[in-house]
Formats: sequence, C-alpha cells, structure tokens
Amino acid sequence: MNLNLHAVRGTAAGIARMAGAEVLRYYGQAHDEVTKSNSYDIVTEGDHASEAIILPALLSAFPDHHIITEESGGLGAPAETAEYFWYIDPVDGTTNFSKNIPHFAISIALADHNRQPLVGVVFNPVTNELFTAARGLGATLNNQPLQVSNTATLDQAVLATGFPYDRATNPENNVRRWNAMLPLVRDLRRFGAASLDLCFVACGRFDGYWESWLNPWDCMAGMLCVLEAGGAVSDYSGSSEAVTGRELIASNGHLHAAIRQMIVENP
Ligand code: IPD
Ligand code: CA
Ligand code: CA
Repeated sequence: MNLNLHAVRGTAAGIARMAGAEVLRYYGQAHDEVTKSNSYDIVTEGDHASEAIILPALLSAFPDHHIITEESGGLGAPAETAEYFWYIDPVDGTTNFSKNIPHFAISIALADHNRQPLVGVVFNPVTNELFTAARGLGATLNNQPLQVSNTATLDQAVLATGFPYDRATNPENNVRRWNAMLPLVRDLRRFGAASLDLCFVACGRFDGYWESWLNPWDCMAGMLCVLEAGGAVSDYSGSSEAVTGRELIASNGHLHAAIRQMIVENP
C-alpha cells in the first residue's frame, strides 16, 4: 500500500503537538524520576504522559503499522509482517526536561521495512518549534522550508555532539573526539537532545553533528529533516545505507568529509 506522505506528516505533526501540550503540563515543576540503566539514564512522568497520548493515536490511525517506542517497546501490527515502522521518542532530552531546561522534544518518525525514514516530526513544546520532513517533499520549521548552512570550513563551523549514558564505562564515550574536534572548530555544543541537534543542522543553526550509540527513536526523524533540507547523513564508514544511530554523522554536506576524518583518526 502506498502512503500519502504529505497526509501522514500532517497526522504525525498533530500527534506531536498533542503530546507536547501534555508534556508542558508537567514542565517547570519537580519531577518523578526513575533511573534506568544507570544514574544518568532516567525516565520521568513526562515521558510516560507523552507516550500515553502518542501510542493510542498512532494505533488508531495506522493499525497495520508496527510501533517501536523508547519506553514501551514494540506495539501494533507484528514486526514480522508490517510494511511500515514508527519510531517514537516521547521526550528526547529527558535530562533537560527533568531539570526544567527548555530544550527537549517529542520525536516521531515513520520508516519503511528497510529502515529508510519516510516522515519525521520533532516538536519542542516550550519554544513551539515544529520541525517536519517527508521523503521527497522537503523539510520545514513551523511551515517554512528549511535549508542547511553553507559553511565550508571547520574553523567557521559550530558543531554539536552528545555522550552516551554508559560514558563512565564505555571506552568509546566520545571524550577523545570532543577533545580532538574542539581546537578545529569555531565552537562545539552539547545541548542534550539528539533529535533537536539534527533539526538544528537541518535549519543551519549547526553546521554539523556526530554521535555514537543512539537508537533509531532518537535520530530517525531528525535525520530525514537533514536530508530533506539538503544535508548529508552517514555512518562513520561514510555509508548512507540504513543509518541506525549506532554511528551517525549529519552535516551540511560541505563539512562531512572533515568531520568523518576527525572521527576515524580518533577511534
Ligand atoms: C538522549 C539525548 C541526548 C543523547 C543521548 C540520548 P533521551 O535521549 O538525545 O542528547 O546524547 O544519547 O539517549 O534519553 O533524553 O531520550
Ligand atoms: Ca532520546
Ligand atoms: Ca527519551
């Protein structure tokens, strides 16, 4: 069955806005936090409240699709038979949300069974910024078309990255790469929400971004925004096939090779 990606993007955007309104009800207050894999890795009442809006809405709109969500696993049609897959991060940037830092987002992506993203929406309810993309139909920020930056050299670039939750024990924790990149660029940022890092590349606020150990729900929607805004996405080998987030470089295209070079030279 062929989907109308324009219509699906509208449906996903509406669901992200509803979830964002729900998350805002909990924003600016003390939060109920539960730790997950370690003390850095938490889930809050906001994450669960967001999922409680998104999941029923998607299940009813797309009953024959499979849904993979960060906090609740797999739902909907069986993964073995489904043609389409949703990847949901109910709150990306949970550490920011838990500290009432206004930089987090609801991230919703639709992909085909080869994990090629088809639709992505990323919504920051505090700033009311809604990023969307649909394959072949472009990327938007609050309905305005997006384009990546033109920055051509690292010394003029502002790049973003992130660090994994197991950074205390994982030797590939990005500290060496942060140290290697810092002297080469105008500046680096660690804002703490991968979905928004990618959307900031899509709209030219950042010139590039890299991160390891992400899950598809963190990055699938933002990756499509970068691609549809004219940017580039690959893993560390440079391949753009089935990028999952385990290794991710996103850039305006001009800086891709230079970012990749720093990464491979600093394993
Ligand atoms: C995290 C954020 C962060 C990134 C982490 C992610 P969460 O997602 O996107 O920027 O560095 O790797 O796990 O836990 O806030 O949904
Ligand atoms: Ca996330
Ligand atoms: Ca999350």
